[in-house]
Amino acid sequence: MKIFVFNGPNLGRLGKREPAVYGSTTHADLAELCVRTGAQLGVEVEVRQTDHEGELVGWLHEAADGGNPVVLNAGAWTHYSIAVRDAATQLTAPLIELHISNVHKREPFRHHSVLSDVATGVVAGLGVDGYPLAVRWLASNAA
Ligand code: DQA
Repeated sequence: MKIFVFNGPNLGRLGKREPAVYGSTTHADLAELCVRTGAQLGVEVEVRQTDHEGELVGWLHEAADGGNPVVLNAGAWTHYSIAVRDAATQLTAPLIELHISNVHKREPFRHHSVLSDVATGVVAGLGVDGYPLAVRWLASNAA
């Protein structure tokens, strides 16, 4: 079963965007790392990024219909998008909410997630290394 990794707004600018917070790895490098991790485990991984909320909602519908496990870094939408939450709620396979930074030691508006209580688990603060960890967990527990 293919694992999807969906990244939301501004994550396409990884490497250039606030490197002190998000590190120097680019989105292309991150995608490659996820695909390679999956390949080592014999699982297909597809990584996508969008700055458009409706596009992410459509991708979540696709994962819901396909029964695919998902790693989701919804970026800022994490904190307020009921549309993304409602789409995530429709997933039937496990969902891992992921944040590169530790959102809990940042601004108060980042402390609340509308996704955490519909996610299977949450990874935050491990940098981009969180992604292969999440892929590994899904490969063992869901794929
Ligand atoms: C983020 C944290 C969010 O608060 C922020 O809006 C992002 C990235 C992270 O990966 O740490 O865009 O999800």
